[in-house]
Amino acid sequence: MKQTKILLIGAGGQLGSELTQGLWSIYGKDNVIASDIKEATGILQEGRYEKFDVMQRDKLFELIKKNDITQIYHLAALLSATGEKDPRWAWKLNMESLLFVLEAAHELKLYKVYWPSSIAAFGPTTPKTNTPQDTIMDPTTVYGITKLAGELWCEYYFRRYGVDVRSLRYPGLIGYKTPPGGGTTDYAVDIYFKAIREKKYECFLAADTYLPMMYMDDAVKATLDLMEAPAEKVKVRTSYNIGAMSFCPAQVASTIKKFIPDFSISYKPDFRQAIADSWPKSIDDSAARHDWGWQHQFGLEEMTKDILENLQQHPQYLA
Ligand code: SER
Repeated sequence: MKQTKILLIGAGGQLGSELTQGLWSIYGKDNVIASDIKEATGILQEGRYEKFDVMQRDKLFELIKKNDITQIYHLAALLSATGEKDPRWAWKLNMESLLFVLEAAHELKLYKVYWPSSIAAFGPTTPKTNTPQDTIMDPTTVYGITKLAGELWCEYYFRRYGVDVRSLRYPGLIGYKTPPGGGTTDYAVDIYFKAIREKKYECFLAADTYLPMMYMDDAVKATLDLMEAPAEKVKVRTSYNIGAMSFCPAQVASTIKKFIPDFSISYKPDFRQAIADSWPKSIDDSAARHDWGWQHQFGLEEMTKDILENLQQHPQYLA
């Protein structure tokens, strides 16, 4: 068995930077190469890093060969709100980059690939509460369309070529260490920054818009748990539903008020409301719990306490 060597693409994003650190703690800094189209910033400067554009197929293949890469985590993508501003580009970037990674995994015989899907792969006629693993999928955003198509490509590469590709349908992910990157669920990140800086927040979704959400620590744990699971336990080869909590903006605001009593929220829904309304409100993730033992740790109150304490103690994240 070759030494595990990981290439993480999209390390500059919210999930990427935290997942890089999770991978460092398992495999050591020498065995993880973080990459993104931008120069390394913050904590990423402490490990191995390649500035690299995932749309350069040859460069991807060269990087893998040169570094004896055995696993890829491919996180680079345009998210739901940004994708709607340039649908053609979102399709090209999200789909072609996934195909390059799958082709590389097949041709260069990588051991494992991780690729994220999302609740955005569901749509308006999907059952909204406790959305099942197998159900109607009719995404309305180009981002969601790329996630649904991508899930099917992952399964295709697994069935046809035996590529061990694994995936999770993330809910909205909430972290405080990196600014959010153009998602519909990102109000739940922004709100904490504004709560500390300005004690008020204008929300782009309506007060009672319930969405499935997850704290970043749980998202990193879910990803690493799935990737560490024995292959025979990974029964779903499209993408696993994964959940932790479900809340609406009014509930985040009242939880923040417990810690910052003079915090106030106002609502001005924009085009992102229609996107949020097309997504599930909560997720049935029993397949992930059953197949490889998924368990979340953070609920809304624990998460809020943790984020506010950390932002107060480490003001560099507010800069
Ligand atoms: N959080 C993402 C978004 O809002 C969904 O995967 O775009």
